[in-house]
Amino acid sequence: MSDADNNATEEREAFDRDSTSNTLTIAIGLSLVCSILVAGAAIMLKPIQEMNEVRFRQRIILDVAGLLEPGADIEEGLDRIEARVVELETGTYVDSIDANNFDPLAAANEPATSVAIPEELDIGKIRRRAIYAPVYLVSDGDELSQIILPVRGTGLWSTLYGYLALEPDGETVSGLQFYDHAETPGLGDQIEDPAWRAQWVGKKIYGEDGEPRMEVVRGTVAAGNPYVQHQVDGLSGATLTGRGVMNLVRYWTGPHGYGPYLEQYRQAKGT
Ligand SMILES: Cc1cc2nc3c(=O)[nH]c(=O)nc-3n(C[C@H](O)[C@H](O)[C@H](O)COP(=O)(O)O)c2cc1C
Repeated sequence: MSDADNNATEEREAFDRDSTSNTLTIAIGLSLVCSILVAGAAIMLKPIQEMNEVRFRQRIILDVAGLLEPGADIEEGLDRIEARVVELETGTYVDSIDANNFDPLAAANEPATSVAIPEELDIGKIRRRAIYAPVYLVSDGDELSQIILPVRGTGLWSTLYGYLALEPDGETVSGLQFYDHAETPGLGDQIEDPAWRAQWVGKKIYGEDGEPRMEVVRGTVAAGNPYVQHQVDGLSGATLTGRGVMNLVRYWTGPHGYGPYLEQYRQAKGT
């Protein structure tokens, strides 16, 4: 073997690309670079994601308020909505909390800012709720035209997140819309069906005794029955999701939800 061949063999042995240490060094280096890139992207994208989340929720609120017709001016619609925070137990407004930056779901996860829901009252099966909660007041000129309440509760497979809109009388439904759930497509996801949602419009959430009375019946609502004004059809093949919606609406309009707020509102209005 010539000197040149010997040198080349020595160099190859000195730098064996396939050695375990080289493989490890390259793998670790590559993972480091990738982690830095992923972490950097996540940090940079976070404000954009948060902004998109806010816009998404705003659109749903506009939609449930009927202000998202094709061609509607979104900014104009948003100008008509005032967000306020309510202390649920007393039903009074709390102006020291910025309603636009208040996250009731995050607050519900913190022991200091939430309460456990007594089991007998937890018909929506959410276990905890925040002490404070936002309400969205929609105005038409100088008049209040709708009150929008965030609602959530358990369906069959998942938590259903949505908004319930009420007429200015504080008890007639003007809209119900869910923006997040994981119910089965074709079954539980009929809660998004515009025809089913339309059935809620005009229904009364309270019975004569002042208790939440909305009911998702099994099958179809029997015309002429005395409870028609509180009833909507069941969802075929998805009775359990429908029952979840009924229960969450009853919870949030009841004494442990927005009930005290709505009662005070109605008393102040004289309705
Ligand atoms: C794969 C699968 C998915 C289902 N998804 C739902 C659902 O999302 N919501 C629901 O209420 N029922 C769902 N069901 C049906 C329920 O298990 C239950 O049978 C139904 O809610 C009863 O309603 P019904 O009396 O109207 O048939 C599902 C069933 C199967 C097999």
